[in-house]
Amino acid sequence: MMKKFEIYDIITIYMNEILKSELEYIDKIKDIIRNGEKAIVITFGCQMNAKDSEKYEGILEKCGFTLCDDEENADVVLFNTCTIRENANKRLYGRIGQLKNSYYKNKNKIIGICGCMMQEEDEVLYIKDKYPYVKLIFGTHNIYNFPKLLYDVLSEQKRNIEIVDDNDIIVENLPTHRKYFFKCGVNIMFGCNNFCSYCIVPYVRGREKSRNSDDILCEIKNLVKDGVVEVMLLGQNVNSYGNDNSNYSFPELLQNVSKIEGLKRIRFMTSHPKDFSDELIDVIKNNTNICNHIHLPLQSGSDKILKLMNRKYTREHYLNIVKKIKNNIPDVSITTDIIVGFPNENENDFNDTLDIIKEVGFDSVFTFEYSKRTGTVASKMDNQVDEKTVKERFERLLLTINAMNEHKFDKFIGNTYEVLVEEKNREDDIYLSRLSNNIICYIKGNEDMIGKFYNVKITNNHGFYLDGEVVN
Ligand code: 5AD
Ligand code: SF4
Repeated sequence: MMKKFEIYDIITIYMNEILKSELEYIDKIKDIIRNGEKAIVITFGCQMNAKDSEKYEGILEKCGFTLCDDEENADVVLFNTCTIRENANKRLYGRIGQLKNSYYKNKNKIIGICGCMMQEEDEVLYIKDKYPYVKLIFGTHNIYNFPKLLYDVLSEQKRNIEIVDDNDIIVENLPTHRKYFFKCGVNIMFGCNNFCSYCIVPYVRGREKSRNSDDILCEIKNLVKDGVVEVMLLGQNVNSYGNDNSNYSFPELLQNVSKIEGLKRIRFMTSHPKDFSDELIDVIKNNTNICNHIHLPLQSGSDKILKLMNRKYTREHYLNIVKKIKNNIPDVSITTDIIVGFPNENENDFNDTLDIIKEVGFDSVFTFEYSKRTGTVASKMDNQVDEKTVKERFERLLLTINAMNEHKFDKFIGNTYEVLVEEKNREDDIYLSRLSNNIICYIKGNEDMIGKFYNVKITNNHGFYLDGEVVN
């Protein structure tokens, strides 16, 4: 036991040294940039990337840059990339191409690319070759090094490319620019060990690394002191939190987070069905500040395909968890991810997926056409499904989901629920608010209501979202 503490202390001292050195680079940047220089971070992909971008923005702000939303005129543009599907890569290249002219008008402009896509060697080589005006490239394992990397480019005016392999470094307390003052994502772990056969994440984000629970709890307590009422605990597979470095499990962590005074809503994402435990269901059920929304990616309803995907559960196991969740958590909403056109998927397999979607009655389904990712096991499988069939199945999937959801939320009409008001809608006095179960409800409101809770009577169902009126 003693030994573990000693190692932990040494790691903490090492990480603090890294932080200290990075903060020094922030000061150095402050000294060399002109007044009023502008910066923008453009984010692709998931919540984890959004969270990383808040760190880049926090660092840029601390360096003295003003954050803006105009990439043409910004002095620093950082693209935080995603590579989960091929179209994410294509979108990135389009955006960098559009910036070429603005770079040649202002050669001091720094265009940088970071994130998951930069952990792929071929992509980095391609960018190096085709986009000489991209001056800064780094990946997912050296986020904390951003101040030094940026300083080098600014001071030496030359290209800086630093991609490092997976490591165990988690640097705490980096500056952060929070997008919302009342809600915030909190990383609880990084990386993934699951190697689902279609997925590139374990290759670009590395092995699972859990943050120390004290650091997580301390961060959330500070956020609450700062006005945050909702947190989203983030990890590729939150259910395996702690497996790598302690016996502290995800349900235990969740239980302790829920005890934090003043914290009104706790969400978490993403859960893997293979280790969604009864203990977790109990913790959600027994703590009213844990939201009644569970995102539980299914991917396919066919046992044959689930096995080929290396998902490590069966259709029956998934349905059992759903049953337990529904029996124990009132008004729960369950959402999922589905991939169509995985190699070897035939008409029967696809129909199994349609059937289970109807059987579960998901509140929302995120649908994806299978995308072949280099280096994954699935990319080498025989019997890849042809594009036309994938598209045709995808259309049928959407039709099924739309038909199923048209009246699904009618049951909410006339009832009153507590909502958190999040942001202004495009229309004048209409604001987006969210129920505990994550369903969106539009209400009439004003700026002052953002970040506050209201009781709202549901008046209308639009299929995927609701309208409501504030009641006193
Ligand atoms: N092709 C299509 N969808 C994918 N996902 C992950 N990898 C791929 C891929 N290669 C989907 C999964 C996952 C979600 C985040 O992205 O459904 O749950
Ligand atoms: Fe990818 Fe599977 Fe890990 Fe999710 S659990 S990140 S789908 S490998």
